[in-house]
Amino acid sequence: MRISIFGTGYVGAVTGICFADLGYHIIFTDVDESKLKIINQGKSPVYESGLQTLLEKNRQKISTTQYALEAVLQSDMSFICVGTPSNEDGSIDLQFIKEVSRTLGAAIAKKNSPHIVVVKSTVIPGTIEDVVQPLIKMESQKKANIDFFIVSNPEFLREGKAVYDFFNPDRIIIGTDDSISASIIAQLYSSLNCPKMFTSIRTAEMIKYVNNAFLATKISFANEIGNVCKKAGIDSYEIFKGIGLDSRINPQFFRSGIGFGGSCFPKDIRALIAYSKEKGIRPRILEAVLETNQDQPEKLIFLLKRHIAIKEKKIGILGLAFKPETDDIRESRAITVIHHLLAEGARIVAFDPIAMDNFRKIFPNIEYADIPDVVLQSDAILIITEWPEFENLDYDGKIVIDGRNIKNAQKNAKIYEGVCW
Ligand code: UDX
Repeated sequence: MRISIFGTGYVGAVTGICFADLGYHIIFTDVDESKLKIINQGKSPVYESGLQTLLEKNRQKISTTQYALEAVLQSDMSFICVGTPSNEDGSIDLQFIKEVSRTLGAAIAKKNSPHIVVVKSTVIPGTIEDVVQPLIKMESQKKANIDFFIVSNPEFLREGKAVYDFFNPDRIIIGTDDSISASIIAQLYSSLNCPKMFTSIRTAEMIKYVNNAFLATKISFANEIGNVCKKAGIDSYEIFKGIGLDSRINPQFFRSGIGFGGSCFPKDIRALIAYSKEKGIRPRILEAVLETNQDQPEKLIFLLKRHIAIKEKKIGILGLAFKPETDDIRESRAITVIHHLLAEGARIVAFDPIAMDNFRKIFPNIEYADIPDVVLQSDAILIITEWPEFENLDYDGKIVIDGRNIKNAQKNAKIYEGVCW
């Protein structure tokens, strides 16, 4: 089985390299040639734990091309793994999906055997049938009997654990109207032991959104309860441990704190809200999920101000990535917090184990330092990301306002405040 991957970002790179490890031949293509060059040099185009090793192990099975036609002609199926960002109104921006669909259409028209197009990108229900499929057909009109099949196969990969998640999925969703394509895609994953669910294309598209929306709802619920607990002098971590013991409630994803960031949750919830409204439904719970999430970093600043007047003070920021084990800073809570602190005249000294280079691109003028210096130099410390190294610091004599429940800080700091505990 030969697979071409369109888009070599987080999803495409992980999917392609992991498929190579399952034994398939992979051809990567991307409009950004520099990413292909990186792969050709034997380097992973994204930082993801375990991915580099897997790439090195499977190099003979991986090639790249900047030409979509070559990618299609040399493969049995193409995975669409391009980004689906937000428009300004929160709705899904399909520009990359449209571009890649046209490109695929033109290439498939030149092929003499059937081709399967698998959409891995997160797209709002109806996108595949109403946008991707027609565009492929339109571009390939030049040929009478265009032979292609389309499948929705959403990803559920957590950044930082994406390789593990690829090989240990909870389930694989295969959405298509064509039974042969369904069994070919199921066959691709046959060595992965998990339930495989076959659905219509629209259902598969929706499952992905509802999955993320429910997880984000759990977090905002934990934060709302956490805010009440904080006022009441109750540790919300104990509350969620307690309710997690109820067999109807899964204890995971109930960590209160300063809320969710990243490339998926905020944008997917916004897109689902816009889609619901388009269908004439006001999604009140989803709106509240976003609202609670937006307010949560402010709680940290509020607590800080209880202990220090922040103007001209040096505030140490521990953690810039949107979560540990990644250098991804998209919609990181650190961005909101630092904007707020700067607006109030604070000075910033920040540390992150791997996300500082990315952060420098958007905040070139704040100070960056190693962990000991951040702790030494700052008048107060804010913990933004739960990196394990923050557990072993000496917070003795410091004011620490913690957004992520770092136990050691709780023990050592002169003044310690947890956002929801
Ligand atoms: C998420 C989904 O988990 C994944 O299935 C989907 O395919 C893409 O989106 P990811 O964005 O990589 O993955 O991160 P995840 O580990 O889910 O965390 C998202 C955010 O929620 C992070 O900012 C994290 O700090 C926050 N979070 C998570 C909490 O605040 N509390 C929790 O209990 C869990």
